[in-house]
Amino acid sequence: MNDKINQLNDLKDTAFTEIKNAQSLVSLDNVRVQFLGKKGKLTEFLRGLGNVDSVERPLIGKAVNDVKKSISDEIDRSFSVTKKLESEKKFHTEKIDYTLPGKVRSLGKAHPIAMVLDEALRIFSYMGFAIKEGPEIESEHYNFEALNIPKLHPARDMQDTFYVDEDILLRTHTSPVQIHVMEKCDPPLRIVAPGKVYRRDSDITHSPMFHQIEGFMIDTDVSFADLKGVLTTFLKELFGEDTALRFRPSFFPFTEPSAEVDITCVMCNGKGCRICKGTGWIEILGAGMIHPEVFKSVGYDYEKYTGFAFGIGVERIAMLKYRIGDIRLFFENDIRFLSQF
Ligand code: DAH
Repeated sequence: MNDKINQLNDLKDTAFTEIKNAQSLVSLDNVRVQFLGKKGKLTEFLRGLGNVDSVERPLIGKAVNDVKKSISDEIDRSFSVTKKLESEKKFHTEKIDYTLPGKVRSLGKAHPIAMVLDEALRIFSYMGFAIKEGPEIESEHYNFEALNIPKLHPARDMQDTFYVDEDILLRTHTSPVQIHVMEKCDPPLRIVAPGKVYRRDSDITHSPMFHQIEGFMIDTDVSFADLKGVLTTFLKELFGEDTALRFRPSFFPFTEPSAEVDITCVMCNGKGCRICKGTGWIEILGAGMIHPEVFKSVGYDYEKYTGFAFGIGVERIAMLKYRIGDIRLFFENDIRFLSQF
């Protein structure tokens, strides 16, 4: 038995020497595996106890456990000391250059079209208009017929669009939202409806997809004067107090009378330039008093109710406000262009 105990003490001494010599956390871990691991020296020692007397076996077993524990404790102690030393060494040897410029992450920002949309909707909200949205995929009924544009009507030519099938198309304007809202709600109504619209059109001032804001107000005694008041407030707020408005007679199937609204040219302040073709005025939106046929198509009493409506192109406003000559710049997503706003 003494023989075995001596062997065990030798093992312990070797382990302690190796722990002492271990310079790093990695080599300490190797010592742990070598002595305490599944195939380690202590396990090997235990295997060699097969022929030991059964009286002595518990005593030796206890001795093995004691040695195991003291080796393990010694490794743990050495581990924390070495760890501390290693981090101190790292602290002293690693140099940090405080003068290096930091890594700057560029922040995203709102797209100019989103900015103009937000501002326009904010102004209308101040005037008590609620915001509603409608689908971009429409039937001919909502996009044309209910707005008093029958099949084969020449006004359809102005709004040639993308058809999904015979009857289904990408909406050409936001005016169909008028119909959706009127079908669901009774007057009084004061609504603005922003969104994307689509047309078969593409050049420096036209894009196949662009944004409009539709607005309308319906009650028992809404007049053209209300239309003028709302649009004057809106356009002065958007383009500045000095902006003047001009209403020109026009035609839209869904309004009667209809008007096109011009503002003082923002490029030359009304003096006359290339952009306003020397007139000093620039067209900004279409508007009018809602046609009785539109009220009829949603079952409103057209003897009782009157209303005005208008439609604005958002890109056009942004182009005038920021003096941009080519609509395609908004959709090319060139960060050098977009980060200027
Ligand atoms: N929907 C017309 C268009 O896209 C714009 C418009 C004109 C809307 C007059 C209106 C309106 O509500 O009254 O060309």
